[in-house]
Amino acid sequence: MEAKRETQEDIRMSQLPRIAIIELGSQYTLLIERTLREQGFRSVVLEPRRAKAWLEKNSPQAVILSGGGASVYDKDVPQPPLEVLDPSCGHALLGICYGMQWIAHTLGGRVEPISDNREYGDGSITVITEDWLFDGMPPHQKVWMSHGDSVTQVPEGFETLAFTETGAIAAIRKGLVWGLQFHPEVTHTTYGAEMLIRFLKAAGCEPDWEPSALVDDIRNKTLDACGIRRAVFGFSGGVDSTTLAAILAPALKQKLLAITIDGGHLRKNELTEIEKHAHAAGVLWKIVDARAEFVAALAGTVDAEEKRRRFKKVYQDIFAREARVFGAEIVLQGTLAPDRIESGATGGALIKSHHNVGLDMGEIEQLHPIDHLFKYEIRALGRELGLPESVWNRQPFPGPGLFLRIIGTPITIEKLDLVRWADACVREILVRHGVYDSLSQVVVAYVDAHTVGVKGDARAYGGAIVVRAIETVDFMTARGVWLPQAIVYDISRTLVAHPSVVRVWFDPTDKPPATTEME
Ligand code: XMP
Repeated sequence: MEAKRETQEDIRMSQLPRIAIIELGSQYTLLIERTLREQGFRSVVLEPRRAKAWLEKNSPQAVILSGGGASVYDKDVPQPPLEVLDPSCGHALLGICYGMQWIAHTLGGRVEPISDNREYGDGSITVITEDWLFDGMPPHQKVWMSHGDSVTQVPEGFETLAFTETGAIAAIRKGLVWGLQFHPEVTHTTYGAEMLIRFLKAAGCEPDWEPSALVDDIRNKTLDACGIRRAVFGFSGGVDSTTLAAILAPALKQKLLAITIDGGHLRKNELTEIEKHAHAAGVLWKIVDARAEFVAALAGTVDAEEKRRRFKKVYQDIFAREARVFGAEIVLQGTLAPDRIESGATGGALIKSHHNVGLDMGEIEQLHPIDHLFKYEIRALGRELGLPESVWNRQPFPGPGLFLRIIGTPITIEKLDLVRWADACVREILVRHGVYDSLSQVVVAYVDAHTVGVKGDARAYGGAIVVRAIETVDFMTARGVWLPQAIVYDISRTLVAHPSVVRVWFDPTDKPPATTEME
């Protein structure tokens, strides 16, 4: 039994990307990831502190160190794990801008500030040494640069491949380690995408992003695993579960039942939307009204992980029960790679235990057919399958829903109603201002930090609503969004009308250090 589990885990890990991008504080990191995907390569973006565990577990073929605003001489700067420099690990390494300076500095080269000649924006390089990375490209090329430090002496054994127009070292190499002072991921670098692909080829990477092949693969593997057995499926109506339902429904047909649990944690009108999505996916669908069970289990809880534990317990018990009713021996979940990563299931730290990872379902087998994919990939599959835009463009909403949006105070039905109302108001305002679709996710939470206000002519003493909007591609990192003043004004004015709300706070903190949800 143990051996079988390990084999399944091995298969899952082998489906994860073989290219790691270590994020060292650059605003262009996601552009690297997107450029690679556009060329057919999947990659995973890692924070430095999580990179070590990931590298050990996944042995990637290629590692890319992003740029970043830091100087190698500053204190507390982003540090990739030293293992990235270990040739025995067998991966190729590319350092971009700060990433290149970090390589040079760590291996004994010299990095110095270039205060007189800070290069920012459009520039050019001259390639002086023939190299695989620049093969077939003109020696003079346009590049995009943004740096205050520069490598002035390459480490032992490294060769200088190119200089910038101001004479700074623009590209270096030793074996399978390259450094580029400019940003190949930015379109202003004329041959940048080509250089990235040549680097991946040197690393031995093969394209692995082909949507229709992925759909077939997920469908066939799940069909094989299920055989003649029936399966139930956790259906939240979001992009992950709707897309997975649309992939599996044509194969499993009446043997597959999608189940939506209403635990009192859903948003306004959410059940109607979920029903529409179940219909679009063509899957057999059932709602289980478990509001009383969930509210009883979670009432009075304050601690974030305790809420998740209790939610998970009730969730898995209901699923096991529904599986028996349907005669199912399998539970399918639309878990994605980040859910497993953040739950510590891939070797990194536990950030949050997601409710659908590591369920204890006794003899019922659990399958997670898309847990090697990232959010942007599942969106692309949803689009490929012809699902409506309301599915593939839908903002995520966490499994435990509004339970995670009541902060620092025991959960009650009244607070759930308050945060449900506030969430609906905020979404309506963002839609009216035409910005909702441009945001990756909006989080609206109630915080029971009682503060004094004045309403009418009387003293008011109540809680606050926090509004948080983020932009991200993969939800592993995110930029906090500063909403325009007119929207901030509209939201604040609307929400303080509620008798329990005295203030509205806006939270544009990036992830890291914050996470998307407040819990
Ligand atoms: P964080 O807060 O970790 O969230 O930055 C990343 C994405 O995951 C969603 N999220 C969850 N989804 N169960 C889920 O199904 C959970 O327990 C959970 N916690 C966070 C979050 O809304 C965001 O989209």
